[in-house]
Parts: sequence; structure tokens; C-alpha cells
Amino acid sequence: MIFSFPVLKPGEAAAMIEHGQTVGFSGFTPAGAPKAIPLAIAKHAEFEHQAGRRFKIGVLTGASTGPSLDGALAKAAAISFRTPYQSSPELRKRINAGETRFFDMHLSMMPQAVRYGFLGPVHWAVVEACDITAGGGIVLTASVGASPTFCRMADRILIELNHNHPPTLLGMHDIYEPADPPRRREIPIYSASDRIGSPVIKVDPAKIAGVVQTNLEDECKGFDEATPETDRIGQRVSEFLASEMKAGRIPAAFLPVQSGVGNIANAILFALGRNKDIPAFEMYTEVLQDSVVKLIQDERVKFASTCSLTVSPEALKVVYDNLEWFRPRILMRPQEISNNPEVVRRLGIISINTALEVDIFGNVNSTHVMGRQMMNGIGGSGDFTRNAYLSVFTCPSTAKGGKISTIVPLVSHMDHSEHSVQIVATEWGIADLRGRSPIERALLIIENCAHPEFRDQLHQYLELVEGAHTPHTLTAAFKMHDKFARTGDMHGVDFAEVAATTR
Ligand code: COA
Repeated sequence: MIFSFPVLKPGEAAAMIEHGQTVGFSGFTPAGAPKAIPLAIAKHAEFEHQAGRRFKIGVLTGASTGPSLDGALAKAAAISFRTPYQSSPELRKRINAGETRFFDMHLSMMPQAVRYGFLGPVHWAVVEACDITAGGGIVLTASVGASPTFCRMADRILIELNHNHPPTLLGMHDIYEPADPPRRREIPIYSASDRIGSPVIKVDPAKIAGVVQTNLEDECKGFDEATPETDRIGQRVSEFLASEMKAGRIPAAFLPVQSGVGNIANAILFALGRNKDIPAFEMYTEVLQDSVVKLIQDERVKFASTCSLTVSPEALKVVYDNLEWFRPRILMRPQEISNNPEVVRRLGIISINTALEVDIFGNVNSTHVMGRQMMNGIGGSGDFTRNAYLSVFTCPSTAKGGKISTIVPLVSHMDHSEHSVQIVATEWGIADLRGRSPIERALLIIENCAHPEFRDQLHQYLELVEGAHTPHTLTAAFKMHDKFARTGDMHGVDFAEVAATTR
């Protein structure tokens, strides 16, 4: 017994979960996601399938998770429904094959969608904790995600008590759930470091069905080394932000930064850290990567509000070994708060996210390869972009060995519209779209951001139509995508030929 809670083996915990039920798992990225119970559920599902019985569950999480959760459950064909975000190769295959229903949604909206009942009942919350207080207070580990809401809304709770995370994490989380309309008030965060909630998730102890003890590392990977291309993108974004400060459009004390996940984001943060014209700054973000741990150590980042510590085991060890030093500098919040549109707009966030493709008028696709294959999901990019003080999208100008231009006439799927996208950056330069008409935007994006090998054909596309506010030619807008689908290369589309038949 841990207090009055039964101690269970992972298999015993998994056996309580029935076919057709919905489970809300902790975790936001692999950080803080349970590992032993989902692996045991996957094993149980395989056993049931072999016995000719059906076994699938609905899986709700904070965001993506690791191989032991999404990976194992997808391999076992055990997920019927999944939301709000994923990045698992196995699950991606199931989603794109139509075997798992996936609902892509803004991460800030996930907890309220559960509370409003939009996603049906939540039968179980399965959460990773580093400690449980005598009164049933759950101390989370390396993320908060949607766990407070899952714990409150679920019929029953299973806890993975992971001794790999120290109980001294108590105090690193700020648990707060807004009231639902019509009683919702403002979220009282006026600076990135404001604390507004409780350090633990308070639950009715009677709902805790059992505790599984583990000692498992988080499954977050570090990132690849920066490439000359990602370095150039980082350099351009940091120089641009420094020039905005000089021009008086960013205050001298700078503004809090949100940065996406991945190699480009890491390169940008390093470049911001190196830039002597940019003062030490704060972050109000959803994921904190290895680069930020280093920037906090170097006192280039003064404070980081985040939803998760999505860092390599080595970087996590640095934080845990120096927890008292990091304690006043890092705070983990629920995704409903870390990504909250109200707070993002109030604090004046500079958002920096990654696109798969951008069209010449400034619309961004972050989710669908060639318009139909789901990559990961919109994640928090929409929460931040739509409400940012300054929204930046970055991507390399080409993909797949240079065969794909990421700058296209029309995005094949749209996540962020021209109304929300202010700055586009590739390794070639920056397009500042603020206050520009569609044609001005197109010229800037083609000249400053597109790869030189694709500029002529993009100009040709733009010239097909005269006298339109947004000069699209519907029959030609996807010619570059079509050429890639047929030949594996977007080069060599002759828009002049198209014009003869469609103008
Ligand atoms: N068309 C087709 N494929 C493309 C492409 C395009 N325009 N652009 C990139 N790709 C391919 C790459 O070649 C790569 O393929 P591979 O996995 O087979 O090598 C893959 O897409 C991923 O591209 P990569 O350059 O490695 O991107 P990334 O790791 O920087 O991720 C996103 C980019 C857009 C997928 C990722 O940032 C994301 O999921 N964003 C949405 C969520 C988000 O922004 N959250 C907010 C902050 S955490």
C-alpha cells in the first residue's frame, strides 16, 4: 500500500481498462508520459486480439508521447481514436491508413473540450507522478499537459509512481483550471513567472484505483546537430528580431518567446542566445528543449514558463542535479494555460514555429504532407501564432533533397492563414508580411525566401492573372504538387503552358 492505495503490477493495472473505454494519459511530448501501464495495455490488447476478441481504446493525451505509449499501442492496433497530437511513426501509419480516427486540435483547447463533454466520457486517467501526498495530491513529473483535467473528469485514476524523477519536483508545477463559461474570469498571469495555482493535482483519493511503481527514463531524444541551413535560419531570425528592437517595435527589455520543437527551433534559440544585441529574455512556451536548459545556465534566458521539459536524459539530469538553482527559473503549467490565447496576447509573445510549406500569399501548412498525409498535427502552433505580438514561421526552402519547394503557389492544406502569419524565414532570407497586400507578399516571399531554382516558376505563376486582389489560377495552383506526385520533382513546371488553356 502507498498510503491507502493498492500497489499494482503494470499488468494488473492494465487489466482494469476495458475495450471501448477512453483513457486520458499524462504527458506532453514523451516528457511525463506513463510508460509501464500503456506497454501493459498494448500487451493485453495483443493477447485479446490473438484470442479473437476486440480490444481498442480511445487515447487522449496532452500532446505527443513516446514509443511506450503511442508507439506500443499503435503497433498493437489498440487505438480506436486519438487526439490532440502525435508524432509516432507507427501511429502516423495507422492514422493515414484510416485505421485510427485522429482529431487534430489546438492544444490549449483540449482540456476544455474534455470538460465540455465534446470528447465523450473519460473512464480512466493514467498519470505519471514523482510523489503522492497523504491527501491524494499528485506531484507530476516532467510535464503537466492535460493531466489536471483528466484526473478531475475521469471515473478512476491509475498512477505510475516513477522514482526516476525526484519528489523534490514539488513546486515546479503550477496547476490551475479555469472555470467554465459563463463563470470564467481572466487568467491572472501578467508576467511569464506569475504563479496562480497549486503545486499538486488535488483529487478525491477514493478515485485512485492503484499505484504502479517504476524507475524509467523519459523517452525524449536530444536533437541532431545544427546544419549550416538551420544555423542560417537561426541567424536570420535573431538578426531580424534584433533589428525590430532597434526600430522600437520590440521593447528594449524584449518580449517572451515561444519556440516550437525541433532542430530549427534549437538553432534559433542558440542564435538568440548568442546575439549580443538581444538582452536576456523570458520564455512563455509549451516545450522547453535542451537549448533552453543551456541558455538558462548561461543566464541568457531569465525564466521559462512551459508545459513540459522535453529534454534529453542528459539535460534532464542537469536540471535535476541543480534543481534548487533551476527552481526559480522554470515553471510547468497545464497546456490550457501555457498556450492560452488570452495570456499569449496579453504578454505579447514572439512565436516561432515551423512550416511544412508556405504559399506565396503567406498561408502556412504545418500538418499535411502533399495535402493529405498527416504528419503530427497543429499542436500549439495555432494557439501562439494567432495571438502572438509577432508570429514567425520558419522552414528550409526545399525538402526531400531539393526536389520539393516549400514555397508553393497555394498550400495543399492550410493551418495558419495569411491573417495570422507575419514573418516567413528560410535560409535565404526573411519576408516581413505586415501591412502588405497579397501581391506585395508574394513578391517578398518569392524573392527573399524561395530557393533560387524555383523563383522563376513561382513568378510565372503570379503573372498568369492580372487584375485580381489575390491572383490565383485555380487550375494551376497545385501544378507543382502534381508534378512532384507524378515525377518526384517539383522543378520544371511551365506555367506559361498552363496559361494558354486556363486564362
Ligand atoms: N512537402 C513534403 N514533405 C515535406 C515538406 C513538404 N513541403 N517539408 C518537409 N517535409 C518532410 C521532410 O522531408 C521530412 O521527411 P522525413 O521525415 O521523411 O525526413 C518531414 O517532412 C519532416 O520535416 P523536417 O524538416 O524534419 O521537419 P521538422 O522536424 O522541423 O518538423 C513540422 C516540421 C512542421 C512537421 C513540425 O514542426 C510540426 O509538427 N509542427 C506542427 C506542430 C507545432 O508547430 N507545434 C508548436 C510548437 S511545439
